[in-house]
Amino acid sequence: MKLRLPLVRLAPLFVLVATCAIAAPAKAQAAAPAAPSAAAAPAAAPITGNVQNARDKVSMCIGCHGIPGYKASFPELYHVPMIAGQNARYIEAALNEYKKGARSHPTMDAIAGSLSDQDIADLAAYYSNLK
Ligand code: HEC
Repeated sequence: MKLRLPLVRLAPLFVLVATCAIAAPAKAQAAAPAAPSAAAAPAAAPITGNVQNARDKVSMCIGCHGIPGYKASFPELYHVPMIAGQNARYIEAALNEYKKGARSHPTMDAIAGSLSDQDIADLAAYYSNLK
């Protein structure tokens, strides 16, 4: 009897672990549907950034990545890297890394996750042309 007790107590923990194991792939699948179309699109027609179209989108970025150039709105909270004048490929790569989770930062993850491949290309074109 005494030997059994610890196992019984641990039961909820097993359930919890099992739930997480099921929930994690489900989450990954929920995020997946965007991937095939995004992967197929460049092959059909390469996405090119449009600086004009980006002007509607940068409102999301201005507060932190100040325009023009480098101006952090909350220097006392965190360092915001300068993206104006950066290489477009570099900006694209960074945003895609946040989007896919290869890189992580609370705000940038959320923002990049809301951007389409076209948005990313437009923003990269815009910021790489900003001096
Ligand atoms: C709430 C503030 C905030 C907003 C809004 C924001 N960023 Fe950022 N961004 C950051 C911070 C902080 C980092 C650095 C994060 C890190 O250390 O990984 C960053 C990093 C980046 C980087 C990587 C730069 C590098 O040199 O590594 C890019 C590119 C970028 N942001 C683009 C954007 C774009 C495009 C938008 C708008 C769509 C945007 N950000 C909106 C705060 C913000």
